[in-house]
Amino acid sequence: MKKLVVANHKANLSMSDIGDYIFNINTNLSDKHNIVICPSYIHIPFFTSEKFELGAQDVSIYDNGSYTGEVTSEQLKSSNVKYVIVGHSERRELFDEKENIIKLKLKQCFKNDLIPILCVGETKDDKLSNRTSQVLRRTLLETLNGFSKEDLSKLVIAYEPIWSIGTGITPTIKEIEEIISFIKDIIRSAYKVDVKVLYGGSVKEENIDKLKEVGNLDGLLIGGASNNAITFSKIVDLF
Ligand code: PGA
Repeated sequence: MKKLVVANHKANLSMSDIGDYIFNINTNLSDKHNIVICPSYIHIPFFTSEKFELGAQDVSIYDNGSYTGEVTSEQLKSSNVKYVIVGHSERRELFDEKENIIKLKLKQCFKNDLIPILCVGETKDDKLSNRTSQVLRRTLLETLNGFSKEDLSKLVIAYEPIWSIGTGITPTIKEIEEIISFIKDIIRSAYKVDVKVLYGGSVKEENIDKLKEVGNLDGLLIGGASNNAITFSKIVDLF
């Protein structure tokens, strides 16, 4: 069955890289899985291809209006964007995004029919002190409470252990499997919906064989390794 593979370019690539990137995607990317590419906002209009759908890395909490520097859900929708990454750990840490802000962003996505990819994950400290399930449960329930079942059924979750992002270290197959079923169970029992859960954190060609073994995985969220279109296409093929 096709899975969902999401590329998160973060603040990478320049305008002069985009032509080659799209060319390499068009020549190398197979249709083995469903693909979403989340480029920088400014690159979004240039990412046109039948090989993937478009995602954004963030969204404003506001509607269109006098909010200098913001990009709204309505603007994303009108730019052919289908998915939005919400609550990435880099936004939580570097921009101090808390649950209340993340909730407003989810609200914006649902309002304009964009699919949010909500990122959740524990820190190294949480993991070392056996708090992973407690942290995930609290984050999920605080963020998702109050949304309708209909909205939540559109949600995608990305489990991204913070200690794994950009570090080259990944959890074991068993750890990922357990946490994914834990997340699915929480959401099923609290809201009666089934959600897709992706894994993100140092996904590379070298560990894709291992990630393939995770039985309940619905897809991947790939940062660093998605900045090269040929590498990204290879990972998609191997997954
Ligand atoms: P990484 O990033 O693949 O570079 O670890 C993943 C992410 O931050 O979404």
